[in-house]
Amino acid sequence: MDLKNLSKGYLEKEIPKDIDISKEILRIKKEKNAVILSHFYTVSELQDIADYVGDSLKLSQLAAETKADIIVFVGVHFMAETAKILSPHKKVLLPDLNAGCSLAESVPPDAFEEFIKQHPGYKVISYVNTSAAIKALTDVVVTSTNAKYIVESFQKNEKLIFGPDRNLGNYINSVTGRNMVLWDGACHVHEEFSLEAILELKKQYPNAKILAHPECEKPVLLVADHIGSTASILKFSKTDNANEYIVATESGIIHQMKKQSPQKHFIPAPPKDSTCACNDCNFMKLNTLEKLYNCLVYELPEIEIDEKIRKRAEFPIRKMLEISAKLGL
Ligand code: 13P
Ligand code: SF4
Repeated sequence: MDLKNLSKGYLEKEIPKDIDISKEILRIKKEKNAVILSHFYTVSELQDIADYVGDSLKLSQLAAETKADIIVFVGVHFMAETAKILSPHKKVLLPDLNAGCSLAESVPPDAFEEFIKQHPGYKVISYVNTSAAIKALTDVVVTSTNAKYIVESFQKNEKLIFGPDRNLGNYINSVTGRNMVLWDGACHVHEEFSLEAILELKKQYPNAKILAHPECEKPVLLVADHIGSTASILKFSKTDNANEYIVATESGIIHQMKKQSPQKHFIPAPPKDSTCACNDCNFMKLNTLEKLYNCLVYELPEIEIDEKIRKRAEFPIRKMLEISAKLGL
């Protein structure tokens, strides 16, 4: 079998029946000097087996600093790609190459290049949820943890383009008083939350506080008690004195919330379509324990990036990491 020929995007090798898969993952990881990084949106068992679980900023900082030979990214493609851009000499693996991101997909590189051409003299700020090709067209990358501060690090009169998330862009414009020109993209999970259903839920739980990720639409953000990145809303849920929270972001984060505050009650914000599990990111949920096992054993699928694009994409990510380090983020 040609292991490089991953027609499905992941390795479907049979797993020996008599093994304890979690124990084996930990053993092979140690043997190969690999590190497992997971985002908060993956399934609980993957969050629990990872060396680190974090938001996009934390995970990119860890990917830049790790001494491991192999980085296994239990998350989505742009996250693993960012790790590879920062650590080009390491092997970076993603258990399923189909784990994309609707937000990253909402900005095709050719169209974005044209958009930039139409705005001469503008600096380009891109959310980390983008492909390497988009980052290569960018002056500085941001995550939801540092976006406000990085935007504020530009002179007030600097003309700025922000892409691809229109909701995050609008939110940052509102908290900084800037007037960035926005790319019209969005995340299909965060745009699914229903204000009406959240307000109905509030009637049932009048003391619950609403926590929202800035990728949510404006009406949801307007009723939120706290708006922030996954790490920020997790921290708020731990330190705040309420007992009930309605959580308007991907439901995977609730696993960490419950772990940190077992006495509190966390309620996923309902989607517009009550018949779907739309507050689950189908891309994040493509990661499974079985795929992680095969990925570690066979060291596939591996992230590969054209070196010219990688080099151009590295600069704006390093700039983000530098500014974040100065700010203590
Ligand atoms: P953060 O974890 O950085 O808040 O990002 C959320 C997200 O959209 C990941 O896809
Ligand atoms: Fe992309 Fe949205 Fe999934 Fe995050 S939750 S990975 S932004 S599709």
